[in-house]
Amino acid sequence: MHVRALEWGPSGVLRILDQTLLPREERWLDLDRVESVAEAIRMLRVRGAPAIGVAAAMGLAASLRRSMELPRERFLQLVDASAAELAAARPTAVNLAWAMERMRRAARAAKGGGASVCAALHEEAEAIRAEDEGMCRAMGEAGQAVVDAQAHRRTGAQAQSRADARARTSHPAPRTLRILTHCNTGALATAGMGTALAVVYVAHERGVPLQVWVDETRPLLQGSRLTAWELAKAGIPHTVLPDSAAASLMAALEVDLVLVGADRIARNGDTANKVGTYPLAIAARHHGIPLYVVAPSSTFDPACPDGAAIPIEQRAGAEVTRPFGVPIAPEGSPVFNPAFDVTPALLVSGWITERGVLGPPFD
Ligand code: MRU
Repeated sequence: MHVRALEWGPSGVLRILDQTLLPREERWLDLDRVESVAEAIRMLRVRGAPAIGVAAAMGLAASLRRSMELPRERFLQLVDASAAELAAARPTAVNLAWAMERMRRAARAAKGGGASVCAALHEEAEAIRAEDEGMCRAMGEAGQAVVDAQAHRRTGAQAQSRADARARTSHPAPRTLRILTHCNTGALATAGMGTALAVVYVAHERGVPLQVWVDETRPLLQGSRLTAWELAKAGIPHTVLPDSAAASLMAALEVDLVLVGADRIARNGDTANKVGTYPLAIAARHHGIPLYVVAPSSTFDPACPDGAAIPIEQRAGAEVTRPFGVPIAPEGSPVFNPAFDVTPALLVSGWITERGVLGPPFD
């Protein structure tokens, strides 16, 4: 069993685990107002591309129940305005806009007045949640082909490095597969077991010996606060490192595979993910280490030709200069704080999706 980021609460409210408080406190919040759902997404109380799409869908359905007495046209206008407000909460992860578009379409397709449109919204939100949960498991399973290939390579390399020729021909014991990951792509970032971390969870279930290198992920520390927390709960061996130590670890031959998530994937494969992914991909390519992006189909944006067209969220400078309220830079120093960067498709070994391991063009 993995942890959960969100669920339906009593009488259909959206219930989320407030991720800003992790790992020191596990506090659940019940949300049933569009403004509070949008605030929770903006403040990263719920975060991760798939999770914010699911949370917005469930939050929209939960919030509009109080308006179900409205006549159909008024209710549909409210759906449009609320979906637009939620979609604007964060710009980079396409899952959010995608989920809001699905909710708007479900509302228009429903017959009758506010109450029946409301029921259709609830049904669609639950479908989005359940599909995401299923896609997580499917990605985890699809990723096992990559895990097995890397584990095989590592075991073979170990045997070959021994002078003893017998070690080469006999079947060497499987060696620990060392996976490096960035940000949080686990259960906390989805409605299921995660994206990149789902590959880790399924490998662990299968008994593959693993060691996960967890980039701490400056400035909001999704790696050390959230990924390490999830892996500790699951009993998976892991080590947290400063983001800037990843290249040295690769140079020391301590990394077999890099697995990351994505917030938006353009038609040509350029991939936006948490800032720090791009330098990781450069370092991985330099050291000959495969880097795979793990993402569900809801993260692919067919309208986006390449990475230059992906909007990159810029966040408050205080996240860098006063992280968690502690001043660590001179008051007033200007700050550059993009939440995401774009990794060119050229640096990605493959895209693990619920439909298998793919490459561009994705149409
Ligand atoms: O700013 P965040 O924490 O929402 O960023 C999350 C990421 O960048 C994840 O890697 C991405 O959403 C994929 S999560 C399954």
